[in-house]
Amino acid sequence: MSIFPIKFKADMRHILKADDFNPKLIEELFKKALFFEKSLEKKKDLKSLVGAIMCSLFYEESTRTRFSFEAAMHRLGGQVISTENASMFSSAAKGENLEHTIQVISGVASPAMRYADIIVLRHPEIGAAQRAARVSGVPIINAGDGAGEHPSQALLDIYTIQKFCKRLENLSIGFVGDLAFGRIVRSLVKLLSQYKNNRFYFIAPEGLKIGQDIKEYLVKKGISFQENGNLEDVIGDIDFCYVTRVQKNHIQDQKFIEEYQNSKDKFVISKEIYELSEARGTFFGHPMPIDSREQEISPEVENLPRVIFLKQAGFGVPVRMALLEWIYKK
Ligand code: NCD
Repeated sequence: MSIFPIKFKADMRHILKADDFNPKLIEELFKKALFFEKSLEKKKDLKSLVGAIMCSLFYEESTRTRFSFEAAMHRLGGQVISTENASMFSSAAKGENLEHTIQVISGVASPAMRYADIIVLRHPEIGAAQRAARVSGVPIINAGDGAGEHPSQALLDIYTIQKFCKRLENLSIGFVGDLAFGRIVRSLVKLLSQYKNNRFYFIAPEGLKIGQDIKEYLVKKGISFQENGNLEDVIGDIDFCYVTRVQKNHIQDQKFIEEYQNSKDKFVISKEIYELSEARGTFFGHPMPIDSREQEISPEVENLPRVIFLKQAGFGVPVRMALLEWIYKK
């Protein structure tokens, strides 16, 4: 007898996409994240997730997402089980499908025997987190599904934007680099669209431009945006400039990468761009990793005050602590 599809509890708190958040929830999470930020600074012992186990199931490479989720869980007194390269070191290498892996870890047949209480999943296929959630006995957090979404990264990004720009409304936000294959920009645009009067600039080379679906999403919501082929032309109008690397590990067609490399000067954060943004006071963020071969943020500016990507990565811990606690404390 097939056990598909198992109905997950309607009120289970999966985080699969940016639209799973809303401003009210975000405000609640950010209050908590700020509390955790302060507690971490004071080295306070936090033990709200003692006894809980988080599984990090990563079928793709990661540094910050996996480590900051794991650090967040440890900081709350919880425990972690993980496989860092699930496609090679989990039973996926033996042909097991994602559904069976999730059913076992989440204990659908015998909940008390489950291996983990929350699963953080990164997978190369768009929609993998949704598939996982459909059969899971525990909450799933989408930590990146191919070129789909990466909602917890977008959450920490808007936490960062709020810290530096002091607001989430009335902002001009520039997205630079690979806007076609990157998943974060898709989630981030959707999150920022929930706030009033934001304007978007999409600055990308041919072949790496923002997807039609995102443009349609914005048109439907009546949100203003423009596409540009040269950062220099618009940097003076941008409050927060979100820089991304070219997703070489997701791009099949080499010509898109070459196109970028040939026109790179229009998309990197150089000293000139930094100086041009002085009057506006633009902040420059990046989800990392920065590709050291392309230097989309030039080393000569990376330590300047308005380039804040290292602080941004640090916020991953308190923001993910807030998210884990909110999900688990349901
Ligand atoms: C990104 C990702 O994996 O989507 N990294 C991250 O989670 N901080 C961005 C990237 O790989 O370029």
